[in-house]
Amino acid sequence: MAMLTVENLEASYGAVRALHGISIEVAEGELVALLGVNGVGKSTTLKSIMGVLRPVKGTITFEGQEITNRSPEKIVKRGISLVPEGREIFGTLTVEENLRLGAYVGFKRDRYKADLEEMFELFPILKDRFHQAGGLLSGGEQQMLAIARALMGHPKLIMLDEPSLGLSPAMTDQIFRLIVTLKERGSTILLVEQNAERALEIVDRAYLLANGQIEHAGTAEEIKRKVDVASVYFGDQTDADSCEVSL
Ligand SMILES: Nc1ncnc2c1ncn2[C@@H]1O[C@H](COP(=O)(O)OP(=O)(O)OP(=O)(O)O)[C@@H](O)[C@H]1O
Ligand SMILES: [Mg+2]
Repeated sequence: MAMLTVENLEASYGAVRALHGISIEVAEGELVALLGVNGVGKSTTLKSIMGVLRPVKGTITFEGQEITNRSPEKIVKRGISLVPEGREIFGTLTVEENLRLGAYVGFKRDRYKADLEEMFELFPILKDRFHQAGGLLSGGEQQMLAIARALMGHPKLIMLDEPSLGLSPAMTDQIFRLIVTLKERGSTILLVEQNAERALEIVDRAYLLANGQIEHAGTAEEIKRKVDVASVYFGDQTDADSCEVSL
């Protein structure tokens, strides 16, 4: 049985329907991507799973229990954590305070110390900047802090919304390597990315979204082939267009 099952999810912002029946599954230990261009509903799907947005229709099941319409607090307690788009760390709080907030769910002092050591191993920069304000970190460092903060709560499922957005190629490489490390350590991860090519190098399976629906679902290899076909298609289009222009 899958750890997370989303069935026929429909969601709206006022009169605007953003999701038209999304169905996805994530098994324990899997690294799964939700791919698609701007505005197709990737973040809306994560927000609905997190309980931040109430779906109009559909069901969300986590570890065999339905969590549709539960509050975000209850969903966090069940073991789902979202690292939102734009990171949203607390800029005026120190790195330490940010991490402590992440550990808040079921806080235990002994475990907190051990967890901090583990975070310092994964993200050495956070040790160096422990007493600095989060807002003084670079974009990539803030992304690491946001992920570390989520990990401090020992989520069973971690959802990352475009963790590489706006980062340099080198920092993007680092974030992708980190995601692979998290998977190897046993994390279950739902990754939202616009960068399909990069994501498909590391994920087990992926869903390709278009206009609030799943266009394709499959293994990374299967989706890669679809994306290749799409890029060949768009490549031909561009050639045709440039031909017309030159005529
Ligand atoms: N708060 C909001 N109010 C109204 N419409 C919204 C809101 N948030 C998103 N939408 C709309 O819902 C649709 C899906 O948006 P969503 O943020 O889920 O897309 P996305 O796939 O995450 O895109 P991106 O890659 O740009 O982050 C879009 O048409 C968007 O304009
Ligand atoms: Mg988004």
